[in-house]
Amino acid sequence: MSGAGYSGPTGSSASEMPPMVRPPQPPAADSPLTFPRDEQTVTEPIPFERPVESAPVGAAPATGELGPTGRPMPVFPEPTPLTHHGGARVISMCNQKGGVGKTTTTINLGASLAEFGRKVLLVDFDPQGSLSVGLGLNPHEMDASIYNLLMDRETTLDEVVVPTGVEGMDLLPSNIDLSAAEVQLVHEVAREQTLQRVLAPALEKYDVILIDCQPSLGLLTVNALTASDGVIVPLECEYFALRGVALLKTTIDKVRERLNPKLEIDGVLGTMFDGRTLHSREVMERLVSAWGDTVFHTVIRRTVKFSDATVAGEPITSYASSSGGADAYRSLAKEVLTRWPAE
Ligand SMILES: Nc1ncnc2c1ncn2[C@@H]1O[C@H](COP(=O)(O)OP(=O)(O)OP(=O)(O)O)[C@@H](O)[C@H]1O
Ligand SMILES: [Mg+2]
Repeated sequence: MSGAGYSGPTGSSASEMPPMVRPPQPPAADSPLTFPRDEQTVTEPIPFERPVESAPVGAAPATGELGPTGRPMPVFPEPTPLTHHGGARVISMCNQKGGVGKTTTTINLGASLAEFGRKVLLVDFDPQGSLSVGLGLNPHEMDASIYNLLMDRETTLDEVVVPTGVEGMDLLPSNIDLSAAEVQLVHEVAREQTLQRVLAPALEKYDVILIDCQPSLGLLTVNALTASDGVIVPLECEYFALRGVALLKTTIDKVRERLNPKLEIDGVLGTMFDGRTLHSREVMERLVSAWGDTVFHTVIRRTVKFSDATVAGEPITSYASSSGGADAYRSLAKEVLTRWPAE
C-alpha cells in the first residue's frame, strides 16, 4: 500500500530521491529508531498488556446482558457537558492493514464526540486523503494542506484548518502532497517530532484530536504515534485481521520507549462485525482472549450505510442519524470517554 516501511535512515534508497537531495546517511551511532519494515508479517498476535479485569473507570455496572464481544455489556454514562475547552487528548487511529475502518472510525467517533459537546480536530495523515474526501473536500482544490504545515514553518495551523459540516469538528486536510513529506522529513532534525510540533498550538483549543493514519508503519505513522497520548486499533472482524498486529504492537512499544513515554493503547475496536456468522463471533472470541479488556465492548457492525455516508461526504451520525451504525459510534464515544483520564 502507500508508503514504504520506515526503517530509520537506511529505509529509503537513493534512487527514490529527487536529484538535488542529499542521499540518505548511514545510521548514526545513536540512531534513535530502527523500525521493522511493513512487509514483515507476524501471524500470531502478542497480547497487548491486559488491564485489570474490571469495568472501565466511570462505567456503570454491567446489565448482565452479554454484549457482542461475549462479555457483559456495561452501561456507559452520558458524557457530562464541559465548562471549558482545551487540554486536548491526542489519539492515533492506527493499523498498517488497509481497509479496516481507520478513516470511518476517525470521522464517526469525531462526529459523535462533537455531538457530546467536545471540540474535535480531525487530522488527515494519509496521502490518500480519504478523511478529507469523506468530509466532502475536493483533494485538488485545497488552498493548503497538512503538507504545507509540516514542511513550511511560515504556515500556521489556522491557515490550514477548515471547518466541517459538523458543529464543533474541524479538519486538517491532506492530499497526495503528503507522500512527498515522508521522503523530505527523513532529512529533518527531529523528524519523528514534526507532527507533534505543528499540533502543539491546537492542544489548548480542542478537547480531542484524532489522527487518521495511513496503512503503513512508516515515518508518518511514527510521527502520529509520537504526537499522541493514545492509540485506537481498529481491526476488521475476519481471520487475517490478526496478522501483523504483533508488528504494530512492537512499533508502538518502540515509540513509547524511545520517543513518547506517555503513549498508551486506548483500545482495540472490532469493525465490520457480523453477529450472524460464526466466523465473526470466533474472531471476536480470539480478540478478547488475546487482549482482554483492551478490546472495546462496543463493536461496529458491517453495514453498507458507511459507504453511502462516504459518498455523501458526511458522517453516519448526520447522514443516517438513527441508524445502528450511528448509535454504535455514539456508544464508542461514551466508552472512550470512560477510559480517558478525567477531562
Ligand atoms: N462497519 C463497516 N461496515 C461496512 N463497510 C465499512 C465499515 N467500516 C468501513 N467500511 C467501508 O470499508 C472501506 C474501508 O474503510 P476505511 O476507509 O474506513 O478503512 P481504512 O482502514 O481507513 O482504509 P485505508 O487503510 O485504506 O486507509 C470503506 O469503503 C468504508 O466505507
Ligand atoms: Mg483510511
